[in-house]
Amino acid sequence: MSETTDKKRIFSGVQPSGKLTLGNYLGAIRNFAMLQEEYECLYCVVDLHAITVRQNPADLRRQTLEVLAQYLACGLDPEKSTLFIQSHVPAHAELAWILNCYSMFGELSRMTQFKDKSSKHSDNVNAGLFDYPVLMAADILLYQTDLVPVGVDQLQHIELTRNIAQRFNGIYSETFTMPEPYIPKTGAKIMSLQDPTRKMSKSDENANGFILLMDKPEDIMRKFKRAVTDSDGRIVRGEGKEGISNLIAIYALATGKTPEEVEAEFAGKGYAEFKPAVGEAVVEMLRPIREKTEDLLRNKDYLQQVYTEGAQRASYMARKTLDKVYRKVGFIKR
Ligand code: TRP
Repeated sequence: MSETTDKKRIFSGVQPSGKLTLGNYLGAIRNFAMLQEEYECLYCVVDLHAITVRQNPADLRRQTLEVLAQYLACGLDPEKSTLFIQSHVPAHAELAWILNCYSMFGELSRMTQFKDKSSKHSDNVNAGLFDYPVLMAADILLYQTDLVPVGVDQLQHIELTRNIAQRFNGIYSETFTMPEPYIPKTGAKIMSLQDPTRKMSKSDENANGFILLMDKPEDIMRKFKRAVTDSDGRIVRGEGKEGISNLIAIYALATGKTPEEVEAEFAGKGYAEFKPAVGEAVVEMLRPIREKTEDLLRNKDYLQQVYTEGAQRASYMARKTLDKVYRKVGFIKR
C-alpha cells in the first residue's frame, strides 16, 4: 500500500469492550469493507478507550483479538486497509496529551456520551472518561483523516474534533486536515428486538434485544421469533410499527432487497411467517462470518502478523503528524 495515494483517508474505531452485534455489522463494519475499495482506510481497535470503564484484563485481551478477527471475517483486507490496535501506536496517547491543552473543560462537560456514561458508572467517573473525546480527536487527527464513518451518536465527538483542529490550526497555522463525519446511506440504524425505539446494543440488559455476530443459529432464530412487534398484523413500515420496520430493514439488508420489495414479498402474510424468515436470512448472512472468525481465532500467529504490520504502517503515518505538532508547539527536536 502506498503512502502517497491521492485517495481520501478514512479512520474509524471500534471498542473491544464487548461482543459485536448485528447492529455494529449492518450499521458500520459492512460499510467499512465497501469503503476500502475507494478510500485509504485505517480501522482501529480502540483499547485505550475501552479502559475508561472498568474492564477485566483477560476479557479485554480476548475481546481485542475477537474484534480484529471479526473485522477480517467481515471482509476487511489487511492488504487494502491498515488494521491495528490503538495501544500499539503510542502516538495516540501522545497527541491526546497535547490536544488536552487545546480542549476546554466547558466543551468536554457538554458531551452527552460523557453525561450518559458518568451517570451509568457513577462509582467510576474517572478523568479518562471525561477525556475520552480528546483521545478520539487524536485518533482522527493523527492520520490527517478526511472522513470518519460513525453512527449519529458520535457526531458530537466529530464536531468537537473539528473545533480542536480549528483551534490548533488557528494558533499555529495549518496542521490538521479538517475531518468530516461520513454517515453511509446504507448504514441503517438497527434497533433492539425487544424495544425497537432504542438502538440495538450489547449493553442491553435483555439479551433477546440484540443479536451477536457469534450467536449460534438457534439463538438467532429464537431471538427473532420473540422480537417485539405490534398487533396490527401487516408487514409494512410505518408509525407505531417500529418493531416490524426494524425487521423489514434487517431482512432487506440481509437479502439485498429494498424495503419495498420486502413489503411486497410478505403482503398478506403474517408475523408468524415473517419473523422466522428474517431469522433465517440473518443466520445465513452471519454463518460465514462466524465460521471465518472461529478459524482466525485458532490462528493467533496470523492475527499477530496482521496487527503488527498494521501498527508499523500506522506508526509511520502518525509519526509524521506528531513531529509536525511537536515542532509547532515549540518542543526541542530529539
Ligand atoms: N467513540 C467511538 C464509539 O464508541 C469509537 C472510536 C474511538 C472512534 N476513536 C474513534 C470512532 C475514532 C471513529 C473515529 O463508537
